[in-house]
Amino acid sequence: MTTPNSDALVVFGATGDLAHKKIFPALQAMIRRDELGMPVIGMARAGWTLDKLRERVRSSLEQNGGIDQAAFSRLSAQLKYVDGDYEDPATFEHLKQALAGTAHPLYYLAIPPSMFGPVVRGLAKAGCAEGARVVVEKPFGRDLSSALALDRELHEVFQESAVFRIDHYLGKEAVQNLLYFRFANAFLEPIWNRRYVDNVQITMAENFGVQGRGAFYEEVGTIRDVVQNHLLQVIALLTMEAPVGRDAESMRTEKLRLFRAMRPLDPAQVVRGQFHGYRDEPGVAADSRVETFAALRLHIDTWRWAGVPFYIRAGKCLPITATEIVVDLKCPPLAIFDEISAATSNYFRFRLSPEVVISAGARVKQAGEDMRGEPVELVARHEPGNDALPYERLLRDAIHGDPSLFTRDDSVEAAWRVVEPILGNVEPVHAYAPGSWGPDAAARIVHNEGGWHDPQPEESAPC
Ligand code: BG6
Repeated sequence: MTTPNSDALVVFGATGDLAHKKIFPALQAMIRRDELGMPVIGMARAGWTLDKLRERVRSSLEQNGGIDQAAFSRLSAQLKYVDGDYEDPATFEHLKQALAGTAHPLYYLAIPPSMFGPVVRGLAKAGCAEGARVVVEKPFGRDLSSALALDRELHEVFQESAVFRIDHYLGKEAVQNLLYFRFANAFLEPIWNRRYVDNVQITMAENFGVQGRGAFYEEVGTIRDVVQNHLLQVIALLTMEAPVGRDAESMRTEKLRLFRAMRPLDPAQVVRGQFHGYRDEPGVAADSRVETFAALRLHIDTWRWAGVPFYIRAGKCLPITATEIVVDLKCPPLAIFDEISAATSNYFRFRLSPEVVISAGARVKQAGEDMRGEPVELVARHEPGNDALPYERLLRDAIHGDPSLFTRDDSVEAAWRVVEPILGNVEPVHAYAPGSWGPDAAARIVHNEGGWHDPQPEESAPC
């Protein structure tokens, strides 16, 4: 079924951080490609004017990727601004006037989840919800019951097919390529299972702290911020069965089956850490026990993956900014030449950011008389990443009504079920030094030889 394209974009939270860092740069990129021929209405409760919003857009573009004067002028001309309290019906009457002549607005809720309910009810009461779609940002709830409550609030007004939950990781080029690589190559299928895969590791490392977002971070911590969503989503794409078609629902259905097969996490298989200095951040409690690092072991109870450990690690203030998956294959059954261990054997490596890399680790013989080997990497793709792309791609898809890269209510709920047992302070939080790979205790999570694979700075792309 084809759905009509959106004919207006309304950004709630237009004066906020997300709009500044991600949404306005994506809009400029879309204007440059002639993909945003519609009014763009900024909404906020800030006492601002349209000119002030235009200035904000200018500074956003200047600070996030650079301004293109021609595109900025076009965006400025399309821009409108509606100021008001989201609890006040008059705000939505003003919005309705601004939307005159449009039939399918896209509402982007770049606002705290506590405001989702009042906003969608305000839209419905003013008659602005009919024919519209709504995009919501993570965090989608803070546990299963709050996610269910949010879903209920959204579904009072919008059908699930009109709700687009953004997880910007799904818009990354490297994540798209991971999915493509898996299902466009026959050679992977015979080995992509418990018989050949020894273990899978995913590390999301960031070499910076909470960057002034201390108050936000106190509410979430690493597990809610990036594990429940970005990392579990990526693991689902890495491990799900082939979808029966390329349509959105086939894809989302396979992902759901995978989420349902993830075993709820065991607190005994989780290590939480907090970097020294976190408690001095503005907005952070002096005795905070919120984690800025998490390492954990996950199991997927399917015939394909039974018994294969999935090691997940994410943290702030680590030595490098990089997200990488390493799929370690089992060793050859006998070492005929030199000694080979799982740590020096075959693997697939997917660098998801900042670069896009897909490579396979192999061993070849060193030149000379001895039958001695050395590791090499066969590189299938190696290129710089593009931070701007995910939001641009996802916004374009939402405008076209294509939900493939957005997360469905049942998957989000299933992902909360997986992390629910480790939310809260179920395990102690270990201090770690900024610039280290997290607390020493994280080593106990990985049982295989060689321990964690720490992502290394990427050498430049081969010619
Ligand atoms: C966000 C988290 O969802 O993802 C941040 O809230 C994190 O804490 C960010 O830094 C990482 O995304 P990216 O695309 O910059 O790697």
